[in-house]
Amino acid sequence: MAKLIAWTEEMSVGVAILDEDHKRIMKMINKLHAAMQEGKGRDIMADIIHDLFVYINLHFETEEEMFERTGYEGTSEQKAQHSAMKVKSLELKQSYIASPESIAPIEILLFLKDWWLGHIMHTDKKYAPFLNAHGIR
Ligand SMILES: [Fe+2]
Repeated sequence: MAKLIAWTEEMSVGVAILDEDHKRIMKMINKLHAAMQEGKGRDIMADIIHDLFVYINLHFETEEEMFERTGYEGTSEQKAQHSAMKVKSLELKQSYIASPESIAPIEILLFLKDWWLGHIMHTDKKYAPFLNAHGIR
């Protein structure tokens, strides 16, 4: 089965630890997508939502620590985006716990895909040269 996304070097933000994090998000997308194609999306929803929630918080913490350490000018804008995504992921998790049937696998897939395309491929790309210039690789 074709993968939804495959890693290429042009996805790199130039910081190894963040690239590793981003690859994990990509794997979540592909795993959910593959399960959905087999009609088994619901079987792994609990795992995906749990991973997503834990992960989003850890990843943003790592990024924010780097922004603060280097005095990145886009810090407040990035933090605002992170907060919005943390709120959204918490809402998804709470809704799922309250009523698993209320969340469709496609909602999680779209959330992850938006994260990938909007946050990683767009916003994160902006900080890469700055962090690199401050010795973070
Ligand atoms: Fe990121």
